[in-house]
Formats: sequence, structure tokens, C-alpha cells
Amino acid sequence: MRRKIIIFLLCLLPLCCFAGCNRAKEEETDEKLIVVGFSQVGSESDWRLANTASMVSALSEENGYHLLFDNAKQRQENQYLAIRNFIQQDVDYIVIAPISETGWESVLAEARAAGIPVILVDRQVNVEDQSLYRSWVGSDFYREGTEATAWIDRQFADRPLRILHLQGTEGATASLMRSKALYDAAETHPSWQIEASLKGDFTEAKGYEVTRDFLSEGGKFDLLYSENDNMTFGAMQAMDEAGITYGEEGTVKIVSFDCVKNALEECLKGKIDLCVECNPLHGPRVDALIKACEAGEELPRLSYVEEIAFSSDTITRELIDSRGY
Ligand code: AHR
Repeated sequence: MRRKIIIFLLCLLPLCCFAGCNRAKEEETDEKLIVVGFSQVGSESDWRLANTASMVSALSEENGYHLLFDNAKQRQENQYLAIRNFIQQDVDYIVIAPISETGWESVLAEARAAGIPVILVDRQVNVEDQSLYRSWVGSDFYREGTEATAWIDRQFADRPLRILHLQGTEGATASLMRSKALYDAAETHPSWQIEASLKGDFTEAKGYEVTRDFLSEGGKFDLLYSENDNMTFGAMQAMDEAGITYGEEGTVKIVSFDCVKNALEECLKGKIDLCVECNPLHGPRVDALIKACEAGEELPRLSYVEEIAFSSDTITRELIDSRGY
């Protein structure tokens, strides 16, 4: 019997060793990978999808990362959950695209207490204690807004102008800053009247709904200032249904933000008058920040990306085809 047990144990040995070696090998491979937990806003817009694709491809295994991706579906509570989960898993870095600017102190303090560096991407957070995150990279949303209002000023100067304003997600930097640029410009142009600021949450469905309701209540406007392309697409549908013409040949002028491919196509057709770029390709930028941190370098506090604007009278097919999103 004793002999049988020994033979049985000897038979098991190579299996244990194999499993053990494999585990060691796995650990060895994992050790080389930088583990990143990324809490993404959601999938509300074409811009967001391009942003996710850029992040996923830059933070890939081939590039030295093991990425834990979480889609918060536009709910900040989901972001808190994901981040606490990343902390529990003891990731090397936490990257957050914050939904709104407020409410971040506790969870960021937890990450700091766990010694995990936090990098912010796209939107910002409004916290007093600047040591709660290492670095932020994204767009200068206020500059985008002033690029739009400068164009409106060139077109209309001080002529009477009724504006329909579609806002993005409440409390999000992209929305706060683009709205602020419009309100600031309206203050210095008393003839510009903001007929309504409607909440479209950066989605096509909401953009359609709020514009349709505004029109069905008899609302009138000469210019649509829409804080992202997807809300613009929704508003265009509502205007089509209401028989309202827009663009170069129409009665309503359209200013839109993001410059996703479909919006640039509409701009080329003369249906959107101005597209202000918001560049979503942050993956390589986040990768560079993490690699700099790994190398012990000081990270920049804020990094703004360069962006441009396209108007229907200057955009070309070549320009559209040359772009990466
Ligand atoms: O924060 C960037 C904004 O978020 C983009 O303009 C919008 O399309 C996205 O949903």
C-alpha cells in the first residue's frame, strides 16, 4: 500500500512541477507588463469610441501593458467602483477619463494611500489638493469654444442672432468650458440671443429629442451651437423632420465640436458650417506619460493637445482622408 502511495505521488510530481513552472513563467511575463486600470466615461459618442480604440491600442501587451478596461456607462458611481476594484487588484497605474469634474477627493485619496499613481485623460477634476493625481492630458475646451465664437463673430458680427445651444454632460469639462465660451461671447454681443441651453448628454438620441421638443413648442433659431457631433446628428434629424434647412444653403447655421469622420463628411457637403476639432487620440500620450513616470521623470501637470477647425468653405476630401479618426 505504502509503495502504491509513493508511486502515485511520484506520478503527480511532474504535473505539479509543470503547473509550478507555468505559474513562474506567467509571473515572469506579467512582471514585465505594466498593469493599468483605465476607467472610461462610456460609449456615448463617436469621439469616445475613437478615444477607447486609441487607449486600447497604445496600452497593449505588445507595448508592455496589461490593461484592465472599465466602461462606466456615463455614471460616475461606476467609475468609483472600478477605481476601488483597481486599487484592490494593486494595479501599477490608474488612468481615469472623469465623467464630471466634482466628487473625486475620496476615491483619489484612496488611490494615493495605496501608492498608485493616477493619470487623468480628456476631462479634468476639480480638486484643491493637486497631489491627488500626477498628470492630466486633454483638450483646451475653452479654446475650442472661443474658436467657435470667433467664427460666429466673423459671420454675424453684431447682427441679431438666435442661438440654440445643445449642452453635453452636466459638470463635464468639455461641456462647462464650451458653454462658458458661448456665454462669454454672448455677453459681449448683446444682439446674440441664446434661445435655450438644452441638455443633450453628448448623445445623438438626446440631441434629437431635445431639438425635436424645442421645435415642436415653436422654438426658432438661426444658429445651432452643439457641443458635440453626435448631438448635432440628432439635431439635424429633428430639423429634417420639421422641414428646417441648414448649412451653407439653409436658414440655420451649424457649429459642432469633435470633427469625427461623419461630421467632416457633412461639413464637406456644406451641411455643417463649422467643425471644431477635439482630438481623441490620447492613447500614445498616456503611454508616454506612464513611460516617463517609469523612468523616474517629473510629469507635466497639464498637457494640452493642439487642435484645429474646419469650415465648409475650406474643407477638402484630402483633408478628411488624411485624418486618423
Ligand atoms: O470630453 C470630450 C467629449 O466627450 C467629446 O466632445 C464628446 O463627444 C465626448 O462624449
